Amino acid sequence: MTMQNELTVDELTVQALQWTGSTLRVLDQRQLPEHIVYDEYNDAAGVTEAIATMRVRGAPAIGIAAAYGVALSVRRHYSEYSAHWRQNVMADIEMLAKSRPTAVNLFWALDQMRTALNQQTEQPLAATLACAEKIHADDIAANYKMGELGADIIAGAKGVMTHCNTGALATGGYGTALGVIRSAYKRNHINVYAGETRPWLQGMRLTVWELAQDGIPVTLVADSAAAWLMKSGAIDWIIVGADRIAANGDTANKIGTYSLAVLAKQHGVKLMVAAPTSTIDWKTASGDQIEIEQRHQNELLPACYLKEGSLVSAWNPVFDVTPAELISAIVTERGAVLNPSEQGVRSLKNDIE
Ligand code: MRU
Repeated sequence: MTMQNELTVDELTVQALQWTGSTLRVLDQRQLPEHIVYDEYNDAAGVTEAIATMRVRGAPAIGIAAAYGVALSVRRHYSEYSAHWRQNVMADIEMLAKSRPTAVNLFWALDQMRTALNQQTEQPLAATLACAEKIHADDIAANYKMGELGADIIAGAKGVMTHCNTGALATGGYGTALGVIRSAYKRNHINVYAGETRPWLQGMRLTVWELAQDGIPVTLVADSAAAWLMKSGAIDWIIVGADRIAANGDTANKIGTYSLAVLAKQHGVKLMVAAPTSTIDWKTASGDQIEIEQRHQNELLPACYLKEGSLVSAWNPVFDVTPAELISAIVTERGAVLNPSEQGVRSLKNDIE
């Protein structure tokens, strides 16, 4: 169930997700930058729909929203004193897992919530809510760490380009790739370019808006201008986030990232992936095993081609995979891996164990 209310810009803080104590408030990213509208959810079905329809999007934010969705499920089913409350919550977890396929943070967060749920406790709501709040807080802390680490690596860069939206809107706060850009900008002025990110336009609608909120100047470029921008010598680094990093460093991210990586190699520009370790899928050996989400053609085609009998259709994969060999650095909250390989990525896991 959702309730809508529109805030004035004066009340705006860039927060994609807010836990109110009993409900989850979700900033509807489909309506940005024109309208700042929060929807309020009190059950897992609503949160599933918010993720599937991209009211909330971005890998870490999807995971955090799903975690709160599980807490809402426990709240509902346990408080109904149903003998089957646990089964009902498990069914809600399965439903949340089907909301989007590529961002592994979703499945990672749901695993964390299952573990919290399986704790022998008299207070499952408190246990699951504490877990969701920890996932949220840890993500913000990870982003600040990545910001500093990434800024160290790009020290001296004059210009950077980013793709999609990886900021506060896509995470618990601060952002991954955008967090690196925020931290780098605090140290020294750098020129920031954002690709528009067709077809959903996360760059044009979200990233430039978010940076402007922080007073960071940004130049929007059409995706098709990226090669020419690189040729001009204006950028030293491309900095992107990730939806899933395979064990060998291959990285699934927003469609267009692979094109940028290929272009970067041609022009001697470096590519950084900034993502928390919750984005690493240790069970997936390489990028060709990552499921790539295909979204409906109506997100790409103008309405005139959507009529029955139309001879025009669209192929709309919304992620692609960049092979590790095209990536100069993967930056996580556990440290950075330069020229990533299976061994390098594994060193981050050893660090966790
Ligand atoms: O389809 P979206 O908007 O959810 O895709 C988001 C991205 O591809 C981001 O780059 C990625 O999730 C990292 S967000 C910190």
